[in-house]
Amino acid sequence: MIRDVWYPVLEARKLKRKPVRLDRLGQRFVAWRAEDGQVRVAGAYCPHRGVSLDQGRVREGRIVCPMHGFEFDGAGDCALMPCEGRDAKIPPGLKLDMQVAAEAHGLIWLWHGAPRAEYPEIELFPYAELPLERSAEVSYVVDYHYTRLMETHLDMHHLAFAHHKGVPWIGPKMHDYSAELDGLRIKTRGVLAAEDGSKGTPFVCDALLPCTSYVTAAPNFRLIIITAPIDDTRTWMFIRYYQDIVKLPGLRRLMAWALLQYEYRVLQPQDWPLFDEMHGGTTGGTVDDVPMVLVRSDQGLALYRKRRRQLLGAQAAEDDPLRVLPDAGPRPHDGRTSTGP
Ligand code: FES
Ligand SMILES: [Fe+2]
Repeated sequence: MIRDVWYPVLEARKLKRKPVRLDRLGQRFVAWRAEDGQVRVAGAYCPHRGVSLDQGRVREGRIVCPMHGFEFDGAGDCALMPCEGRDAKIPPGLKLDMQVAAEAHGLIWLWHGAPRAEYPEIELFPYAELPLERSAEVSYVVDYHYTRLMETHLDMHHLAFAHHKGVPWIGPKMHDYSAELDGLRIKTRGVLAAEDGSKGTPFVCDALLPCTSYVTAAPNFRLIIITAPIDDTRTWMFIRYYQDIVKLPGLRRLMAWALLQYEYRVLQPQDWPLFDEMHGGTTGGTVDDVPMVLVRSDQGLALYRKRRRQLLGAQAAEDDPLRVLPDAGPRPHDGRTSTGP
């Protein structure tokens, strides 16, 4: 799992008065809103006897375990053990495994990595986003590793074939293609058209590691797709569809919703039967090692795979117990000085 990054994990509007279970990043978490309305996320299991706290409730910003009613405050500290009475001394280990979480862009985000003094700003695609009032959202779980989805979102030339029935106007040949890597972003641009370049559909298709994509293949429609890992075989998929045609209050969201239905019910499922039988199938694990012969039009996908490998490679090197730490230079007391070249 790529670490030291933010993962989007839930629609913010879904976090109201009740605790919400979050199966993400190979673990189970619980999210709730503390008294100040701020999001809190903790490991889901109650430290008392391991009950899953999402089955409990929130009372005055504290999460209350359904088993024995122990209450945990926004800092994760146990504030009440009903069986021991109000004045009881709380055992030191009786606290939740609190996570670093934040709310931004209408989503709840989870920091995966070591805590730090300052965290990077949470960004989506600032150049792409339209007002949320012109968007509609859906989320669901699919049985594929998230890397397969990330790679497919960067693969625009499958539209003319795998999605031919859904978008028959998209041409098969990639013209004017460019792909570039910029930090955690992969930016691709191109035109899908007929062999002779006619009937072209320009597109922009970007990925932001670890798990977000942005696609537009028409000036008035934009999609943000999040594919957050649940575990090695499942992915939480979130689609936000923006439309820029209808701006009338009352109708703008409806229009986005109707278009989203097409994306969600018609286009996305066209990939599933192909994924099911693809090399690696639904057996779990990443697609990092699935052999592929990539071509020019796959350069975005190749950059994604390369960047992912770089990040994971650097993590593995950091974690290597046999790692030789960098030389910190001569120590003051060892009496040696450099005498030049
Ligand atoms: S298991 Fe949670 S209070 Fe006992
Ligand atoms: Fe697809």
